[in-house]
Amino acid sequence: MDTVEKVQRELPRTTALDIERVLISEEQIAERVGELAREIEDCYKTSGKKLLLLGILKGSVVFMAELMKQLRVHVEIDFMQVSSYGSGTTSGNIKILLDLARDDIKECDILIVEDIIDSGKTLSYLVEYLKLRGAASVRTVTLLDKPSRRTVDFSPDFRGFEIPDYFVVGYGLDFDEKYRALPFIGVLKPELYEK
Ligand code: IMP
Ligand code: MG
Repeated sequence: MDTVEKVQRELPRTTALDIERVLISEEQIAERVGELAREIEDCYKTSGKKLLLLGILKGSVVFMAELMKQLRVHVEIDFMQVSSYGSGTTSGNIKILLDLARDDIKECDILIVEDIIDSGKTLSYLVEYLKLRGAASVRTVTLLDKPSRRTVDFSPDFRGFEIPDYFVVGYGLDFDEKYRALPFIGVLKPELYEK
């Protein structure tokens, strides 16, 4: 188990002081990612299409790297980057910053790989967008899910952990582009984002 003491020993002092506690340890994540890989292999075993893991930059990179190593089937990878814009999180729209540039989408089972689902807007938009572009199938896997924060009706096909409404960082997730490299999921001290 990662304790705050272990974290404080192993991380730069300034980072350790910003983390209130470890919510999900490195070991717990590794075990769950392995289980997700088995579920995913099972789901696609009878499909004759190419399995394309589509990571959503930047938060998904650590999860994506671990998941692809655990999968015992051929996969191809690609990335998209999107951002929310508009007034606040409830009325924001999605803007594509980096699009999926391939001409074989119709031959792909696309599995969108996301770090966390909050309102659900990002993934519900992307699923529709990729279906419109003619993907053979579109499914979603998220490491973390905060169902209490949904503003649109959306459920992932595969989910690592359901978490309460905490702002979390690490394992790819950031606050203001910081903390992505932490090997665990930590709860950020609220005074850091409230100030
Ligand atoms: P949604 O469209 O509201 O579901 O947005 C999901 C995106 O919000 C994620 O990909 C993250 O970039 C960001 N996000 C939501 N909650 C958190 C959090 O607790 N920590 C870090 N990023 C978060
Ligand atoms: Mg993200």
